[in-house]
Amino acid sequence: MGMLTGKIAVVTGASRGIGRGIALRLARDGAFVVVHYGRRRHEAEGVVSEIQQHGGAAVAIGADLSTIDGIHQLYSELDIALRELRGDYRFDILVNNAGIGQILTMEEATVDSFDEVMNMNVKGPFFVTQRALPRLRDGGRIINISSFVTRVASPSVFTYSMSKGAIDVFTRALAEELGNRSITVNAIQPGIINTEMNAGTLQHQDGQQYAAGLSTFNRWGEPEDIADIAAFLASNDSRWVTGQCIDASGGSRL
Ligand SMILES: NC(=O)c1ccc[n+]([C@@H]2O[C@H](COP(=O)([O-])OP(=O)(O)OC[C@H]3O[C@@H](n4cnc5c(N)ncnc54)[C@H](OP(=O)(O)O)[C@@H]3O)[C@@H](O)[C@H]2O)c1
Repeated sequence: MGMLTGKIAVVTGASRGIGRGIALRLARDGAFVVVHYGRRRHEAEGVVSEIQQHGGAAVAIGADLSTIDGIHQLYSELDIALRELRGDYRFDILVNNAGIGQILTMEEATVDSFDEVMNMNVKGPFFVTQRALPRLRDGGRIINISSFVTRVASPSVFTYSMSKGAIDVFTRALAEELGNRSITVNAIQPGIINTEMNAGTLQHQDGQQYAAGLSTFNRWGEPEDIADIAAFLASNDSRWVTGQCIDASGGSRL
């Protein structure tokens, strides 16, 4: 029996990267996993197959989380799928992982680019969570994926950093709000992780050196480095930890 046997986890943006890593890990711990995706249905179904091959259970659901219509669609499909597969629409763990990067300086940012990153990285998780609350069981878990750029000043990703700063604040306020339901709310702040978001940086030797050099361990992170922390935060072992933003940058810029 895994630590999460009997639990249902919804992981947004689980078709690839960090979300995929978290989905695989939570499934390995016994959770039934909803593998949410944006556009990449095929990849999300691949994650579901991988989970099933290892004896786990999962379902893929697609929705554009940068719009309110898309969030509405996520929950109409989720309610139907969970009722059908699990006999109840409620779930236990929400991982707000889906997000976009945006490499723009203060000068380069436009009104449209600003709206784009805020819609996806702030408005999206806020309303996904608001609508999760009546569905989330007491004693549940909310895990938000922030970034170490909320601690380490990074003017090359100005608006992105601001969007993640909002997630840190959201995490603390929501933890206070949900304490009476024994729901914990925490954020993970990854450093540089080997995903498509960093494909541009990690394809050049200079970028690789920069990425590895940031961490005191002299390497960049892999999705599993984050997934293992998410597994702790999803488990009963983390029950006394809430409202925290946990640095997961391999000791970058200590
Ligand atoms: N990589 C890093 O170094 C790093 C560092 C710190 C924080 N983070 C954060 O970690 C999270 C995951 O990052 P990642 O590197 O794994 O990213 P990634 O590989 O680019 O994957 C992004 C995921 O988000 C989904 N997504 C993107 N736009 C969407 C939309 N409009 N609607 C619904 N889903 C959408 C994608 O779905 P589809 O592919 O199906 O469209 C995909 O599953 C993000 O919040 C990111 O800001 C990443």
